[in-house]
Formats: sequence, C-alpha cells, structure tokens
Amino acid sequence: MKTKAAVMYEANKPLVVEVLDLEGPKEGEVLIKYTASGICHSDYSVVHGVLGGKVPMVLGHEGAGIVEAVGPGVTSLKPGDHVIAVLTPSCGTCWMCKENKPYMCSQMGKLMATGRMLNGETRFSKNGKPVYHMAGLGTFSEYSVIPEGSAVKVGNNAPLETVCLIGCGVTTGVGAAINTAGVHKGSSVAVIGCGGVGLSIIQGARINGAATIIAVDPMAEKRELAMSVGATHGVDPFAPDGPIKQVRALTGGLGVHYAFEALGRVDTIEQTWSMIRPAGRAIIVGMPDQKSKIKLGMAGILGEKRIKGSGYGSAHPKRDIPRFVDWYLDGQLKLDEMITKRIRLEDINRAFDEMGRAEGARSVIMY
Ligand SMILES: NC(=O)c1ccc[n+]([C@@H]2O[C@H](COP(=O)([O-])OP(=O)(O)OC[C@H]3O[C@@H](n4cnc5c(N)ncnc54)[C@H](O)[C@@H]3O)[C@@H](O)[C@H]2O)c1
Ligand SMILES: [Zn+2]
Ligand SMILES: [Zn+2]
Repeated sequence: MKTKAAVMYEANKPLVVEVLDLEGPKEGEVLIKYTASGICHSDYSVVHGVLGGKVPMVLGHEGAGIVEAVGPGVTSLKPGDHVIAVLTPSCGTCWMCKENKPYMCSQMGKLMATGRMLNGETRFSKNGKPVYHMAGLGTFSEYSVIPEGSAVKVGNNAPLETVCLIGCGVTTGVGAAINTAGVHKGSSVAVIGCGGVGLSIIQGARINGAATIIAVDPMAEKRELAMSVGATHGVDPFAPDGPIKQVRALTGGLGVHYAFEALGRVDTIEQTWSMIRPAGRAIIVGMPDQKSKIKLGMAGILGEKRIKGSGYGSAHPKRDIPRFVDWYLDGQLKLDEMITKRIRLEDINRAFDEMGRAEGARSVIMY
C-alpha cells in the first residue's frame, strides 16, 4: 500500500513530505492508521543531529490511531482497536523485562538503534530502497506498521487526537515525577524546561501532592501555562539572580527536594544539582548529545544528593497508559492546555522552526 509520510534525508535539512510504499504487517506486527501525532523535542534533536538516526527515516514517536490489520501471531489486538503507540515493545523475555523494567526493554534499544522492525526489515520503502522507522513507530506517516507490543489498547471514548501526547511527552514527564522520582506529598519540586515534557512533570508532581512546584523557563507564556497546569511559582532563568538563587530563595534557602531537567543541555542539567537540598534528588529527563559529560560538586555527593536519569518515565506501558488516559478523562491530567496548534503533515518543518524558537508547547499533526 501507499502512505504519505515526512521523511528525514539529511541532518539540518527540512523533512520531505512524500508518498512511500508500506508493506503489510508480518509476524507479531500491526498496521496502524494514525489519527494524530505530537511533535517531541527528541524528533527535533534527530533532525538537528544532536541525537542519532538512520536516514532516510520516517520520524515521529508520539502517535495514536486505529488498528487496520494484524499480522500472523498477533493475539492482543484486532482491526478497529484504538491504540496509543509507545516507545517500548515490552517484549517480556529480555533480561530488563524479566527484571520488571519494560522501559529499558532491550528490544526498544534495538528498534531505536537500527530504525528497522524487530526482524531486521523495514516496512517503509521508496523506489525499492528501505526507509527507516523512528523507534519502530514512524508516527509522521498516515499509516505505519509497528510491533504488537508497541501498541497499547485504549477505550474508544478517549479522543485519539489528544491522548496521542501520552505516547511520549506525557508518559515521560508524569512517569518521571511519579515513577522515577516518586515525588512525595508536601515536597518541593523545580522543573527546568516547561515544554511538553516539563509540563507533564509538573502535572505528575501536582497529582502526587507536591506543595511547591517551581517552573523554570525563559518564556513567559510557558511559565503561565505551567501555572495553569499546577506550578505554584514561575522563575525566569535569565533574570539577574539566575535560576539557582531564585529557586533557593523560594525554598527558604535550602533548595528543593526534587529538581528535574526537561530540556537536554549540560548547563541546565548541572543546575539541578545546585537546586536540590542535601539528600535531594536530581532527575534528568532531557537528552543532550549522548557523549556529553557533566560536572558535579563533591560537597553535594557528601551531602547525600542523588542524580538519576529517567528513561520513558520508568513507565510500564500496559499499567500506565490506560491510567493516564483515565486521569485525562476525569480531569486530573490537562492535555488540551498543552496543545498549542493542530497542523497538517505538510506544516511539519514550520512546527520544527517554532520549536527551535521555543514557541508553544505541543504541535499535533492531524491526519
Ligand atoms: N528521557 C526520555 O525518555 C525522554 C523522552 C522524551 C523527551 N525527552 C527529552 O526531553 C527534553 C524536553 O522535550 P520537550 O519535547 O518537552 O521539549 P520542548 O522543546 O517542548 O521544551 C523545552 C523547553 O525548554 C525551555 N527552555 C529553553 N532554554 C531554557 C533554559 N535555559 N532554562 C529553562 N528552560 C529553557 C523552552 O522555552 C521550552 O519551553 C528533550 O531533551 C527531549 O529530547 C526525553
Ligand atoms: Zn519524545
Ligand atoms: Zn524486553
């Protein structure tokens, strides 16, 4: 069959929107007709060569849609099911899955590193040549073939054009707060970077009962948005006192219990360390160039500070995706507020330019 997709051919060049060939689902795969896809900063980082990706590649990894067909051996899904595409296929058999850490599933690493399906092939092609899939999902395409385990079924009452955000940003952010950090009731939290991921961390912290939630972002509109979804204070990191001093001032000079980085820069990752109090936790969600190194002060180490990365919000998709959908439906998770624009696939390069200028929170492609 044919599908319209946005393809990356070269770093730092616009994506090309074109028609590709798409082979049907094979063993353990499903064909999805995406309803919508959010655009995440990780897509932007691949386009700009900060994160690796095999080209030509169909980017996108924050989609939701409807199962059109299933391949041999698929038992958990059938045509017509509504699904959210998730980053980890949770194979259940690798050593990480066996240790109950599906968010570190080795099959996920394979999908990301190879840009191919789990059997080593690609389903997308152009003039007989392979076109790779981001994370085995390739949500910047009207149709895609994905592993069965990467599609999590949701109720037909969940609006796919909105809950698609749960595919990456929301699960990453809410999960970082409630799973990775386990933010406790009455605690203090700072979040550096209030895009789709940071706004979701703020909501997770609110749901877990944090008393003080400080949103750190240079854009006034992002700080306002952060306040509307649960932040108690907003801090402009470029104000004369700088982010660390301002966060400390809001916590009686002590610093916060938890500081999250949701931007992906070395300097802001290092800031989390100075924002937390003794025995506090720095949680790193943002993804800079994976070869970069950070510096941490020894005084903090002896002050029992801890730093931890958060991969896909330490999420168990089969447990977390349905409950995040429920939290949206019952009003606890505010997703509509996070969607700045709904766009056509043809507008994707403009949406990346806006993300580069830090305009808006999430743009959502509607198919
Ligand atoms: N760990 C994971 O599993 C995972 C998953 C998804 C995304 N990510 C990463 O999370 C990060 C955030 O993604 P996003 O989609 O929310 O990005 P985004 O572009 O939507 O948001 C980034 C925000 O940072 C703000 N900002 C810019 N400079 C700043 C500064 N100096 N101090 C504070 N804020 C500043 C911008 O105004 C913007 O609001 C990216 O690095 C992305 O790759 C990680
Ligand atoms: Zn993402
Ligand atoms: Zn696994």
